[in-house]
Amino acid sequence: MKVEHLITKMNDALGWELRAINMYAHYAANVKGIHRLQLVPLFKQEVSESMMHADTVRNAIVKLGGICATERNSEEIIHTTNYKEMMKESLHTEMTAAKVYGELLKLLETGNDKELFDAIEQIYLSEVRSVEEMRLLLE
Ligand SMILES: [Fe+2]
Ligand SMILES: [Fe+2]
Repeated sequence: MKVEHLITKMNDALGWELRAINMYAHYAANVKGIHRLQLVPLFKQEVSESMMHADTVRNAIVKLGGICATERNSEEIIHTTNYKEMMKESLHTEMTAAKVYGELLKLLETGNDKELFDAIEQIYLSEVRSVEEMRLLLE
């Protein structure tokens, strides 16, 4: 496992977290109607969770001697006031995060940093939980 390769993948994950922070904060501000009551807390919780994930990944990159990404992933954040659209975008974002962390775990499997593997596995599992949650909310 090349450390440069690992750092690149971690920066990919970090970029998606930075995008998630922006997206959920945007949706928390824009969600309209009765759904505000439930979705503002949900979106804000996702903002905090993404900030925690970003923190973990950032610290790990620095520990590996890398430079952390400061720009979010460039995929467009779709503006909408429709809560269903927001949920669809949320599901897509969580699925992408789960995929990226899954790939990162594969890379870490061959390494010997158990602590880092465990930290990333925790994040991966929380992304998978979010995918399931968003899926149920969309039913
Ligand atoms: Fe995350
Ligand atoms: Fe997430």
